[in-house]
Amino acid sequence: MDSPIKALLGSSADQFVDVKIRWLMNRFASLRAGGAGLRLLDYGCGTATLLRLLAPQLRGAALLGCDISTGMLDEARRVWPAGIDQPELSVQDGASTSVAAGSCDFVVISAVLHHVPVELRRDVYAEIRRVLRPGGHIVVFEHNPLNPVTRYVVARTPIDQNAILLRAREVHDALGDLGFGNIRTGYLMFAPPRLHALEGLERLFGWLPLGAQYAVTAQRSPDLPA
Ligand SMILES: C[S@@+](CC[C@H](N)C(=O)[O-])C[C@H]1O[C@@H](n2cnc3c(N)ncnc32)[C@H](O)[C@@H]1O
Repeated sequence: MDSPIKALLGSSADQFVDVKIRWLMNRFASLRAGGAGLRLLDYGCGTATLLRLLAPQLRGAALLGCDISTGMLDEARRVWPAGIDQPELSVQDGASTSVAAGSCDFVVISAVLHHVPVELRRDVYAEIRRVLRPGGHIVVFEHNPLNPVTRYVVARTPIDQNAILLRAREVHDALGDLGFGNIRTGYLMFAPPRLHALEGLERLFGWLPLGAQYAVTAQRSPDLPA
């Protein structure tokens, strides 16, 4: 949020994450139903913003987060609101997590892969496949390098200095190679998050590869080995 352009587009980091939450809720009826019995992992959760904003809407779900940085996880615990059960947070060992195999209905990985070296990204997808139950969903949110505003902001954001942006096609192909099924790509954030009223544009233009972000969703095939 230190970037003046980013601050112009949205008033807080939460506002950017909220767009993704609304996108998830629109796509998945099982989340709209309150998440009863669901287990959802936020891989590379950072300070757990997505989990914090999802928690009030998914009262029936078990929420988990993992990150490679203990500092991020400490901060996630510190800022978690009182009165809402804390998510189960765990530190990763490289791409690996301590999450049980086949135990998650959803894994969301948001704004993480562009920090993962290209040659290590396959390990991340494979770990997510391991923790998903058969038929479970992976949702990859990423910055869209085809959007010029995204490229401008990323180039000027200090924490993105190591970023190697990836196109939706890269994610799609990698998930296909690992045997995921039902792979779909949608684009979002055609309007600045602070102009919430324009979000309906996404229903019209979600196919157009120009949104500031994209989401690739897929399902772990039932017949894949863990
Ligand atoms: C831009 S933050 C995104 C945090 C969170 N997903 C969100 O959307 O608010 C990127 C996160 O990815 C984590 N990260 C970086 N490299 C990683 C890796 N190889 N595996 C897992 N997490 C990683 C960082 O520690 C950081 O918390």
